[in-house]
Amino acid sequence: MNPASRGVGAFRFRPHLPGDKSITHRALILGALASGETRVFGANRGRDCRATARALGALGVSLREEGAALVIRGSGGGLGAPAGPLDLENAGTGLRLLLGALAGQPFTSVLTGDASLCSRPVERVLEPLRRMGARTTAPGDHPPVTLTGGALHGITHALPVPSAQVKSAVLLAGIQATGRTTVTGGGVSRDHTERLLRAFGAPVEGEGDAVSLEGPAPLAAQSLTVPGDPSAAAFYLVAAGIVPESEVILEMVGFNPLRSRVFDILEGMGLDLDRQAAHTPGPEPMGRLRARGRRLTAFTLGPEEVVPVLDELPALAVAAAFAEGTSTVTGAGELRVKESDRLAAVLEGLAAIGAPARATGDGWEITGSAGRPLPGGTVRTRGDHRIAMAFLVAGLRSTGGVRLVDPPGIDTSDPLFLGNLEHLMEGDS
Ligand code: S3P
Repeated sequence: MNPASRGVGAFRFRPHLPGDKSITHRALILGALASGETRVFGANRGRDCRATARALGALGVSLREEGAALVIRGSGGGLGAPAGPLDLENAGTGLRLLLGALAGQPFTSVLTGDASLCSRPVERVLEPLRRMGARTTAPGDHPPVTLTGGALHGITHALPVPSAQVKSAVLLAGIQATGRTTVTGGGVSRDHTERLLRAFGAPVEGEGDAVSLEGPAPLAAQSLTVPGDPSAAAFYLVAAGIVPESEVILEMVGFNPLRSRVFDILEGMGLDLDRQAAHTPGPEPMGRLRARGRRLTAFTLGPEEVVPVLDELPALAVAAAFAEGTSTVTGAGELRVKESDRLAAVLEGLAAIGAPARATGDGWEITGSAGRPLPGGTVRTRGDHRIAMAFLVAGLRSTGGVRLVDPPGIDTSDPLFLGNLEHLMEGDS
């Protein structure tokens, strides 16, 4: 049966959050390149991260579960040639970061994925890797990608878009290159790779718009705790915001300032948000969030502001659909090349549940219901996990419920979401 949600009354809920997907991909890959055994606590167990772990297994890296930890036996920098193509399924981050890791390895790999991944651009990653010395082709700018790695030299790369995936791929090649690698133009893109590289002992300098490192930089295994994923948290915060008098408590959520802008935006809309930082060691801050719904008001986000909340825009669009006033988002063209064309998928979903919205080129204008329930309806997810979760949340404040059609792929990022939603709807929290 396809997932569905229905209108609910006020709730108090403490959902389990999955580990941060971005950080888990990086911990797996850095652990695989390091010397020694890396222990990762709180790893994301969704399909994307499992695809990356499987690809690393095919590259000769041994991974095992040991109690609550995922243990990676590092290769000391020398991965093994895979016997066949590496299938990253839906994992764009896994594929792009692995390209950087494989650029310094003296063998040929073919990296591919599902239909969605095989329609996403890769030239933005391949161009700098080629300049560093890798040989690589991807006909039509999409996977499958064939990459032959080898001796690399450092470069300076100006990012054409402020993409953390591209920045990370170049830095992962940079630790295997001779000389200095500098990436500029990263702006406010997420900085997990820089933080984790430093934790693994790489000499990363600078932050934000200019990040450099001197290669080759060997990595030493670490013990890491992955915080709860702020992008997954956003769906529950929006749920608390749109269902009057509701409260959500989330433990050990990632508080990285470049990921928590979504919290600031929801707070700016009127959500009552209490944040308590936990005093945990390690490269990534985390803490407890308590959100209580109040009347939400519209927001305006311009091109500078959308970069750190690109993944949360579907959830924010749902919050906008129940807010007072008209919210606008501009400069979000990158949404067209995510797991689906999210610019179009969000608009189509909003229309399906009876929320007035229109396209504005590279964004939306969404007029909210001022807190009233929306009719609900049937939403096409395009197989995109974030579209699916955003509209299931919208169904919690609907008169007719929300049903999803086509395989929603929710366990791509959050295998706990549907169980949490069931508990919430049963009042079983
Ligand atoms: C990610 C970076 C972002 C984000 C993606 C995860 C990462 O993509 O949308 O879901 O882990 O580095 P871009 O770097 O392409 O903007």
